[in-house]
Amino acid sequence: MKLFLFIGLFAVSSNAQQERRFPDDFLFGAATASYQIEGAWNVDGKGESIWDRMTHTKPHLIKDMTNGDIAANSYYNYKRDVEMIRELGLDAYRFSISWPRILPNPLAPYEVNQAGVDFYNNYINEMLKYNITPMATIYHWDLPQKLQDLGGLLSPMFPEWFEHYARVVYEKFGDRVKLWTTFNEPREMCLLGYGGDEKAPFLNLTDIGTYYCAKNLLLAHARAYHAYNNDFKPTQNGECGIVINISWIGPLTDSEEDNYAAELKRQAEWGIYAEPIFSEQGGFPKEFAEVVAQKSIEQGYATSRLPELTEEERKFIQGSFDFLGINHYTGYLVSANEYKTANAVPSLLDDADVGVYISDDWLPSASDWLKMVPDSLYNLLTHLKDKYNNPPVYITESGWSEVPETGLIDDERILFYRTALNNALDCLEAGVNLKGYMAWSLMDNYEWIAGYTELFGLYEVDFKSEAKTRTPRKSAFVYKQIVKTRVIDP
Ligand code: NOJ
Repeated sequence: MKLFLFIGLFAVSSNAQQERRFPDDFLFGAATASYQIEGAWNVDGKGESIWDRMTHTKPHLIKDMTNGDIAANSYYNYKRDVEMIRELGLDAYRFSISWPRILPNPLAPYEVNQAGVDFYNNYINEMLKYNITPMATIYHWDLPQKLQDLGGLLSPMFPEWFEHYARVVYEKFGDRVKLWTTFNEPREMCLLGYGGDEKAPFLNLTDIGTYYCAKNLLLAHARAYHAYNNDFKPTQNGECGIVINISWIGPLTDSEEDNYAAELKRQAEWGIYAEPIFSEQGGFPKEFAEVVAQKSIEQGYATSRLPELTEEERKFIQGSFDFLGINHYTGYLVSANEYKTANAVPSLLDDADVGVYISDDWLPSASDWLKMVPDSLYNLLTHLKDKYNNPPVYITESGWSEVPETGLIDDERILFYRTALNNALDCLEAGVNLKGYMAWSLMDNYEWIAGYTELFGLYEVDFKSEAKTRTPRKSAFVYKQIVKTRVIDP
C-alpha cells in the first residue's frame, strides 16, 4: 500500500514537473551589443562613436581605463560566435547594429558604408544557415560622434536622423531580420548619459537633460516604428518593438504611502518611456508628470521641466509597438519615508524622492546595482500584463555578473538563471504573453564604465589572448540543457 502511494505521488509530481515545460515555440536566445563585442573600432570605414570618443579622451571615467577598441573581436570572430550559439542549441540571437559602421557620415544618410553592410550580411547569413532567428537592435548606445556634436538625442533633428538610419537597416537586412527593436534601454541613455554622467556622452545635464532626451527618443522610436509598419512590414512581414530596462519596484510595506511611493518611482524610472507607447491613453505617466510640474513651479521654473507631448505626438507614439522587449535583472523596494530604513540608499531621481530598500537576503553580484531578487521577474511581468493589456513580451536580456576571478565555475549565475526561468514558467502559467528569453550575455564583453571588471558571459573570453578564445562556463551547459529539454531540472 505504502509503495503504491509512493509511486502514485512520484507519478503526480513528475507529471507536474512535465507540465512546467517551455512551449516548443518559446524563443530561447542570448544577447550581445556591437560596441561591447565587435572591436574593429576604426576598421573598414567605420566612423567614430560616442563611446570611442569618451574612452579615448577620458579613460579615467572607466573603472579599469579600458575601451572596446578590440573587445571580444567579434568583427573577426563572428563565425565562432554563431558556432557558440549552435553549441548552446539556441533558437535566437539578439545582436545590435553599429550606426557609425553603417553610416560613418550620418548627415549624408545615403552614403552607406558597404563594408559595414557586408559584415552584418555575413553575420546574419551565418545565423540563418543554422536556423538561428536574428533579433536586431537598431541602436545600442554607439551613437555616431558627429551626431553628438550636433546635440545627439537632444537635437530636434534626432528623430529624423534615427528614422533615416532605421530605414537603411530595414532596407539592407529586413529581408532576413524579422524581429527589430529600435532602442536599447532608454533609461540608461537619457538618465545616465544626458541627465547624469555614467554613460556616454556623460553630459550631466540634470533631469531636464533626461526628460528632453526621453521625448526625442520616443518620437524617434515612433518614427522608426511607423516607417517599418507602413513601408516595410507589408513585404517583409516582421515585427518591431523597443527594449526597456525594467527592474521590479515594489512597496516596502503595504501602506498606502509606500504603494504610492513605489508607483511614483516606477513612473519615474521606466514609466516615462513605457507609458507613452504601451498605455491605452498614451502620454507621460500622470502622477509623475504632476509631481514634476508642481516641483518645477515651486523651484521657480516657468513651466514643468518635463516637456509636453502635443496631442498629435501623443497619438503618434501611443501603440507604436508589435511587442515589448524587457531587459530585466533585479528589483528593489521603496519606502515613502525617505532614507529612514536601515538599508536605504539615495534615489537617483530628484522628482521621485523615495527611500530605496535592498534586502540583505538578496545575493550580491559583481555589479553594485544587481542583486538576486527571487520573485522580481514574476512580480514585474504579472504587473505589466495587467497594466498594458498583456502585450507580447520578450525578455531581451537577463543575466548575472561575476568578477573575472570566478573563472568557469559560475554557480551563482546558474542559480540566477534557474530562478529567473522558474519565474518565467510561473508567468506562462499566469497567462503572461511571454514569447522568449535571451540570456545576457552569450560571452564576456565590455561592460561600459565597469570595463572588463564585471563579466556576464555564458562563455568566458580570454581577453589576454590574441584570438580572444571563448570557453563555455558551467552555466552554458546548464542553459543548454534547459533549452534542449524545455524543462528547468530534467
Ligand atoms: C544592459 C545593457 O543593455 C547591456 O549593454 C549591459 O551590458 C547589461 N545590461 C549588463 O549591465
